[in-house]
Amino acid sequence: MTAPTIERLIEIKRDGGSHTPAEIDQLVLGFASGDVPDYQMSAWLMAAYLNGLDADETVWLTDAMVRSGRVVDLSAIPGVKVDKHSTGGVADTATLVIAPLVAACGVPVAKMSGRGLGHTGGTLDKLESIPGFRVELSADEFIACVRDVGVAVVAQTPEIDPADKKMYALRDVTATVPSIPLIVASIISKKVAGGADAILIDVKVGSGAFMRTLEQARALAAELVRVGHALGRDVACELTDMNQPLGMAVGNALEVAEAIRLLSGQSASHALREVARMSAARLLVMAGKASELDDAAAMVDEALSSGAALEAMRRWFAAQGGDPAVVDDPSLLPRAAMTREVLAERDGYIAGFEAAEVGRAAMLAGAGRRTLDESIDPGAGLVLAVRTGDRVEKGHRVATLHGATADRLDAAEECLTRAIRYAGGPVLSPPLFYD
Ligand code: URA
Ligand code: CA
Repeated sequence: MTAPTIERLIEIKRDGGSHTPAEIDQLVLGFASGDVPDYQMSAWLMAAYLNGLDADETVWLTDAMVRSGRVVDLSAIPGVKVDKHSTGGVADTATLVIAPLVAACGVPVAKMSGRGLGHTGGTLDKLESIPGFRVELSADEFIACVRDVGVAVVAQTPEIDPADKKMYALRDVTATVPSIPLIVASIISKKVAGGADAILIDVKVGSGAFMRTLEQARALAAELVRVGHALGRDVACELTDMNQPLGMAVGNALEVAEAIRLLSGQSASHALREVARMSAARLLVMAGKASELDDAAAMVDEALSSGAALEAMRRWFAAQGGDPAVVDDPSLLPRAAMTREVLAERDGYIAGFEAAEVGRAAMLAGAGRRTLDESIDPGAGLVLAVRTGDRVEKGHRVATLHGATADRLDAAEECLTRAIRYAGGPVLSPPLFYD
């Protein structure tokens, strides 16, 4: 039997039909190898966007994407290897806290991460602000680091899920990103190829997030879990609030410093600590270290108060070439040339933030990239001094901006000022977790 033409496959999806696994392989593996041109894949993606994929097709698509490249084999490392993924948000410093916390409790953390573009700022950029830190490890170095130190966070290597890289680039320019089956296949294929057994996915909800409503976020979470299980991985999701930044710092070195302060027991954002604690506890349960969330949370608290988590962070940074002295002295991290205080415009209460705009303000200060080849100022960003619900008086400091030049700070200040909403009377703070 000869394979159908690609044109025929596009026609099937255009007319609302369903594919066989062989057809999906033909399309995805053909596209990854360069045999299927961009214009045909673009047409198929739009047909899939409009007509959807059924439950089986989504699983087959994900599986084909995994097989487009290498799958990291972590089976030589004993125990359940875990990964924590976030669908993106502003000031998601949580990974920097969770990875050493979980490792300190004896569960290996193996995370491959993509490069961030735009306001969200990737985990890799944060780690690269640590002097000497290398995120570009080979797959073998990655495996060795997880085995020897219990934690590694690295850039996704080009041999992992090449189909996703090409498909995502096309989706980005053909208005086909916001499709649940396509998002699920994209995320789960990368996570499966990264080799972890248990994956906790933090689905952000709110103005700073990809899924703006709780209903959309719930639908995405249910599919992530289903497709993960179908591919033999234990996937769990948590839905967390992205209506305001989780931590107080937004920016690379500023967020590393905040993570260090949290693990050393110094003052930290309550929201960041709670979300990191609960996520770490959930990962311990998934890894079989505890059967109840309460017991796992007690282990996490012990790792925090004993200093074990801070020690795990020191070992982790050193293993990836970073200067471990930053853990004892965060002032060794890069710092921006200038700072400026942003003051409250009026008396009242902080009603909320446009989280995406807070992220954009940090990017304008120099913390993010507007284009893929723009360089980052590792010390740039902002530190909020207030959270939703806080009472403020006119002239009270609401944030400090960090940047290289007055122009950068002007742009950041204008953006941040628009991102903060005030109210005359008391305001309730939003929940941290939805589900
Ligand atoms: N994140 C991904 O990795 N893929 C998507 O399609 C959307 C968000
Ligand atoms: Ca992300």
